[in-house]
Amino acid sequence: MSTVAINHQAPETAAPPLLTDTAIDGMAAYEALVNEARSDRTGFWARLAREHLSWHRPFTKVLDESNAPFFKWFDDGLLNASYNCLDRHLHDGNANKTAIIFEADDGSVTTITYRQLHARVCRLANALRARGIVCGDRVMIYLPMSIEGVVAMQACARIGALHSVVFGGFSAKSLHERMVDVGAVAVITADEQMRGGKNLPLKSVVDEALKMAGTDGIHTVIVYRRTGGSILWDEPRDCWLHELEAAQPDTCEPEWVGAEHPLFVLYTSGSTGTPKGVQHSTAGYLLWAAVTMKWTFDLRTDDVYWCTADIGWITGHSYICYGPTAVGATQVIFEGVPTWPDAGRFWEMIARHKVSIFYTAPTAIRSLIKAAETNSGVHPRRFDLDSLRLLGTVGEPINPSAWEWFAREVGGGRCPVLDTFWQTETGGHMITPLPGATPLVAGSCTLPLPGIEAAIVDETGCELPNGQGGLLVVKEPWPSMLRAIWGNPQRFRSGYYPADLGGKLYLAGDGAIRDAQTGYFTITGRIDDVLNVSGHRMGTMEIESALAAHPLVAEAAVVGRPDETIGEAIVAFVVLKGPRPQGTEARQLADQLRAWVGKEIGPIAKPKEIRFGDSMPKTRSGKVVRRLLRSVAKGETLAQDMSTVENPAVLRQFGHHE
Ligand code: WTA
Repeated sequence: MSTVAINHQAPETAAPPLLTDTAIDGMAAYEALVNEARSDRTGFWARLAREHLSWHRPFTKVLDESNAPFFKWFDDGLLNASYNCLDRHLHDGNANKTAIIFEADDGSVTTITYRQLHARVCRLANALRARGIVCGDRVMIYLPMSIEGVVAMQACARIGALHSVVFGGFSAKSLHERMVDVGAVAVITADEQMRGGKNLPLKSVVDEALKMAGTDGIHTVIVYRRTGGSILWDEPRDCWLHELEAAQPDTCEPEWVGAEHPLFVLYTSGSTGTPKGVQHSTAGYLLWAAVTMKWTFDLRTDDVYWCTADIGWITGHSYICYGPTAVGATQVIFEGVPTWPDAGRFWEMIARHKVSIFYTAPTAIRSLIKAAETNSGVHPRRFDLDSLRLLGTVGEPINPSAWEWFAREVGGGRCPVLDTFWQTETGGHMITPLPGATPLVAGSCTLPLPGIEAAIVDETGCELPNGQGGLLVVKEPWPSMLRAIWGNPQRFRSGYYPADLGGKLYLAGDGAIRDAQTGYFTITGRIDDVLNVSGHRMGTMEIESALAAHPLVAEAAVVGRPDETIGEAIVAFVVLKGPRPQGTEARQLADQLRAWVGKEIGPIAKPKEIRFGDSMPKTRSGKVVRRLLRSVAKGETLAQDMSTVENPAVLRQFGHHE
């Protein structure tokens, strides 16, 4: 009897024509893999790890569950991530293949082959060693989208140093918080970055962060000269990337690390406290980045692949730095923004570079729809997009109308749109359609990948039948899952394997529902206090703490409000130490607080709206009643029971109209 409890009747939305010879060709092939994983879990993962990774010393153990949920995969194997992504291609016929087509903000294009990329990575890896950086050290990366970003990450991996990349839009304070938490010894940055025709500082932000307490351990700052803009210089700490590279040979013996050696720490927002350092392993992580490049993106030799994410996020790690290089892809990396010099930039670039696989965020699609509707000159129909064969989205739910527009206007009705659901913590795709196999439905990420045992449970961990919404969990460990929260094992266990659910289920933090007929998953959004603003994860607590740190602020509460374009907009409710401001004064103060949050965290965290009241709506026991604030932010009529609220009158000050 088949164990697959999924009914694969074609849903109402017609699937695009099947691509022939896809990596997973048809639903039967998908089901065979699902069954293989279920009937012999360790055999399945061992097979993939042997087929997709190159091992310096083969593993003999597959999964060690003895200290669950601290799982270990392929533990006694030795390998190197950068060897897998680069050296392999020096011998497999890809040495002179273009690895990266880099398009700068101003439109100038630079390409680099696998051989050249290998040489640059080796030079920088040697230079890092020469500066005393050793296996296990942590290196911060604060760089623009660039070839150098990939070189920096791979160079760390080559010597077994852990990188911690921080998105270039984060403030000095955010950078500082992360570098102290991870205990970094070096920073790789650039003088400036170019976005939308503007020069934006990077090195001076690093300087500012390094003036703050707890950074004495940072002995090296490597600077990529991007613009030549003037910067301060602190010898011998600061050094130029090009000078370091020039002084080093172009080969470098990789550090052979154990499969479980951490590859990187990437900070992401949680519902409580400071951002958490999500720690990934070398082998398990890299394995899934490579496998999903083949399964989800069906990568072929002559594809030109383009993922528009930033290397500061997990998507840029798995689907720019590691996945595409592991499988020898040619990829486009773009420095700029989708709306400059105009909102046709993406379409123009797809045409120019003959992109065949295009992976982007729903927020970008929604804003480009708006632009195309008002200016026909930037409508995708005006560009030659015939090279496209696959489209993908990531980071937030995609509404069916945006999905359909993307499929029709960009994909010309012939490209599948893959709505890929996953998280920083999962390392790679979890629930996603497969081109050539899964019948598509707009607005659904469809079915879990083979080996991923996703399910929906209630608050006690009991599995719910299809058609009933609940908590999204994963029942079995998988190789690319996070291994720890940096420096905080308890936070890992309690946050992801909560005792309430029995301690054996990975809790994703999202709500989801499966279709009664097809078993398809639809993600209904976060169940915690994490917001998803333009596909960027933000913790409400982080923004609240930033606001509360302002000298004029007594208290702040932050909630999300659904927004047509950016997914969720940040709304802050603020109580000042002084009297409640009104009119112009309120507007000026709101601007001041917005700028403050931009400086504290980064521009992406600036509240869209700030509302002032005399006090916070609280229960008699003193808890802020967030559900009411959420309703007020949405402009809903308050049907909820108010009897537990101490001071319901303040809701009117906060903008609630009865
Ligand atoms: C959300 C990004 C719906 C979800 C790779 C998740 C999605 C959070 C989707 C992780 C999708 C991501 N449909 N929601 N296809 N993809 N999300 O860590 O709430 O930046 O928990 O990883 O984004 O965001 P993160």
